[in-house]
Amino acid sequence: MSKEVRHILATRNVSKYFEGVKVLEKVSITIPEGGIIGLIGPNGSGKTTLFNIITGFHVPSEGEVLYRASNEFIRIDGLNPHEIYRLRIVRTFQLPRLFHSLTVIENLLVTPVGQRGESILNAVRWRTWLEEEKNLVKKALGILAMFNKLEIAFKYPAQLSVADIKLVETLRGLMANARLYLLDEPLAGLDFATARRLLNFIKEIRNSYNVTFIIIEHRIDLLMETVDYVYVLHNGRLLASGKPDEVIQNPDVVKAYVGE
Ligand SMILES: Nc1ncnc2c1ncn2[C@@H]1O[C@H](COP(=O)(O)OP(=O)(O)OP(=O)(O)O)[C@@H](O)[C@H]1O
Ligand SMILES: [Mg+2]
Repeated sequence: MSKEVRHILATRNVSKYFEGVKVLEKVSITIPEGGIIGLIGPNGSGKTTLFNIITGFHVPSEGEVLYRASNEFIRIDGLNPHEIYRLRIVRTFQLPRLFHSLTVIENLLVTPVGQRGESILNAVRWRTWLEEEKNLVKKALGILAMFNKLEIAFKYPAQLSVADIKLVETLRGLMANARLYLLDEPLAGLDFATARRLLNFIKEIRNSYNVTFIIIEHRIDLLMETVDYVYVLHNGRLLASGKPDEVIQNPDVVKAYVGE
């Protein structure tokens, strides 16, 4: 008996032109709920642009983005990033966007969607708010400890290595309590052990909370150990898709990477 797959997100024939130059061409992907999906492709193939479209930073030139908000699919193309964030779709950036005037721990604390203190009514009820804040601090410290990074908790981004900045950007996203995470090259610059730990953490989050991940990554060997399914973009088009081992052996995919 096969269980019916529930999808959380789909793009339908999404194209994007920048000043007449076609950067994405009729890209259709479907993302199963609770999946960890890889999005790979050579430099400039359109991966980040697709994330920008899904998260409201760009409007597609044609096509649709559909998201299962509760039980129904809604169109989210055209919504702004803030509205999409409130639907619990959270992304990280290829070039980290930390708050430079805040410490690492403060950066980790600002993100959770629907944090109580944000609402004016609840800010007054400080007891609830305080309790929640305490738990978030615990959670943030716990996550840093897991990565042996407690010593950076009270540092500012300017005091961190490039790799640590990247890691904090991703951990910050993972604090957000999302249903769908889009991670743009989370492993960039990380040493092998940290990269592995991060991928294991992502798997744990998926298994415990049934959240969904789409991960853009150039470190394909590591990515393939983690993802259930992979989409490959090349020159703005979907070149291939499938299970990791199918995709790695696909001659078109090999050629696209070798021809880089
Ligand atoms: N805002 C923009 N205006 C004009 N061209 C853009 C814009 N954003 C992206 N592009 C172009 O679109 C193409 C795809 O870029 P994109 O950043 O999506 O690629 P990518 O697959 O994420 O590459 P990488 O692996 O290097 O991060 C590139 O040729 C890029 O120069
Ligand atoms: Mg990119």
